[in-house]
Amino acid sequence: MVDLRPVCQEDCQILFIWANDEVTRANSINTSVITWNTHMQWFREKMDSLKSCLYIITDNDKPVGQIRLDIVDEGSAEISLSVAPQHRGKGYAALGISLALQKVMRDGFCYRVVAKVKAGNKASVKSFINAGFKYSGDKIVQNTHCHIFNYIMQKIN
Ligand SMILES: CC(C)(COP(=O)(O)OP(=O)(O)OC[C@H]1O[C@@H](n2cnc3c(N)ncnc32)[C@H](O)[C@@H]1OP(=O)(O)O)[C@@H](O)C(=O)NCCC(=O)NCCS
Repeated sequence: MVDLRPVCQEDCQILFIWANDEVTRANSINTSVITWNTHMQWFREKMDSLKSCLYIITDNDKPVGQIRLDIVDEGSAEISLSVAPQHRGKGYAALGISLALQKVMRDGFCYRVVAKVKAGNKASVKSFINAGFKYSGDKIVQNTHCHIFNYIMQKIN
């Protein structure tokens, strides 16, 4: 069963390995390789921040990917994710995104989510569309051509 769990201290290393995966770097706005020290500092800041939610996507409790939401504006968060290379092509991303949306909506973390997908990243585009995101146009983000997708949450009464 696919599920999400919050990231814990012990996940620091696996997140480092996943972050430096070649395809993940190529699909990121900043394509530079991440050093361990930079990662450790980033990880500590994210874990301590009330403006970030980090989750591990699991299948039968086995980690298969990660999802992060960072508040960028009042009520709005930016989402990013990756699936471990050996687990790609099985639809984990769309499932993980849907689960993350449910969690942040339930927790009142945000009500609007934006995804910035580097042009050409077809698996990511499809995953966000499959999870209910709507394409809202293209934008140049730090000199990089991106497709922008939005998800606006419906209030549950
Ligand atoms: C993007 C990523 C998260 C997608 O994860 P995934 O769960 O493995 O996605 P899948 O391979 O199952 O693909 C999802 C959909 O895209 C489609 N797809 C995949 N590659 C495609 C391609 N080259 N062209 C067209 N469609 C493609 C799949 O057929 C699938 O469609 P379906 O749901 O209709 O069957 C994963 O590839 C990844 O971690 N990439 C590196 C990091 C990254 O790019 N993160 C996103 C940054 S915005």
